[in-house]
Amino acid sequence: MTELVRLERRAAVAILTIDRPERMNALSWATVQRLGELGRELAADPGVRVCVLTGAGEKAFCAGADLKERQGMSRGQVREMLAAYRSELGWLAQSEFVSVAAINGAALGGGLELALTCSLRIAVETASFGLPETSLGIIPGAGGTQRIARLIGESRALDLVLTGRRIDATEALALGLVNRIAPSDEPLVENTLKWLLPVAEGAPIAQRAALAAVRAAGRLPLEAGLDFEHEAYERCLNSADRDEALLALSEKRKPRFQGK
Ligand code: COA
Repeated sequence: MTELVRLERRAAVAILTIDRPERMNALSWATVQRLGELGRELAADPGVRVCVLTGAGEKAFCAGADLKERQGMSRGQVREMLAAYRSELGWLAQSEFVSVAAINGAALGGGLELALTCSLRIAVETASFGLPETSLGIIPGAGGTQRIARLIGESRALDLVLTGRRIDATEALALGLVNRIAPSDEPLVENTLKWLLPVAEGAPIAQRAALAAVRAAGRLPLEAGLDFEHEAYERCLNSADRDEALLALSEKRKPRFQGK
């Protein structure tokens, strides 16, 4: 059986590649289950600091639901699929490491929703984006309506969700849908890793605290968020890595962080 998702480990970085280029890396039931298994494996490994999610080939990051498989599904099976999107892919938004979608081509429907579940997004210049679900008589059902509105605002989200139009990488960047566009003269994953080197090699306690605190801003009222930030800062203040950073600064050398 061909592997649906490839996992490569490079020190603190995990690279997941959806490997179904013949179906534009679409999310079949088995692919979603495999992503869930791998996500649980990575979440249990404290050595993982960054997880890059990308697609095989140059055409698609992920073309969303596997529409060929969907044709043979009952309504009940589709409901199970929606639940699986949430249970099997949620780790991308909840894990203690940073997840980044490296968008190597089309990110459509559930493919864009998958990218939206990640903490960060980087795209090639030729990438395209869209949520065409309403044109198929449905709506985004893998968290897309909620995440896109939170990320780019209600009005911009409504434009994309209601019209289902496809946009290019330049517009995606202008909308804040992606963090950056990768230069075309370097492989996407290598460029992504260069960008996130400060995360992969940074102080682990501070990185985890920062990720948790910024995420909390999306769900907490300001006063509660400030309390959350205070507690997160306290964890850093008590860490040996914080003392090491100050010492390294005075000794004009790179800090050696140990996650303590
Ligand atoms: N599910 C299953 N198979 C898919 C698919 C999907 N979501 N998207 C594409 N494929 C298949 C095509 O059916 C085709 O298979 P075939 O060779 O057996 O006919 C193969 O992938 C190549 O697709 P094709 O459209 O010929 O490639 P392209 O390079 O011209 O276009 C896309 C690539 C991704 C832009 C285009 O396939 C597309 O728009 N797909 C639909 C995506 C979509 O609407 N997703 C939202 C679902 S809600």
